[in-house]
Amino acid sequence: MLATHKGMNISEQEYLAVMDDILGALKKNEIDAGTCNEVTAVLYSLKGQIIRV
Ligand code: HEM
Repeated sequence: MLATHKGMNISEQEYLAVMDDILGALKKNEIDAGTCNEVTAVLYSLKGQIIRV
C-alpha cells in the first residue's frame, strides 16, 4: 500500500473521499453494519500508508 501511493501527495481530504465512496458502496449493497465497521477499521489502519507518503 505504501509503495503504491508513494509520491502521490494524497491529502487527508482525498483519503476521506475514498473512504466515503467505499462505505457508500457497502451501504448501497446492503452490507451489514458489523462488516461496514470492520472495513472502516481496516481502511483507517492504512491511513499512514496513503496520506502524504
Ligand atoms: C481508503 C483509501 C484508499 C485505499 C484503501 C486504497 C487502496 C488501493 C489499492 C488496494 C490499490 C491497488 C494496489 C496494487 O495494485 O497493488 C490502489 C491503487 C491506487 N490508488 Fe489507492 N487507495 C486509497 C486512496 C487513494 C487516493 C485518495 C488516491 C488518489 C487521490 C489513490 C490513488 C491510487 C492510484 C492512482 C492507484 C493505482 C496505482 C497503479 O496501479 O499504478 N488511492 N489503492
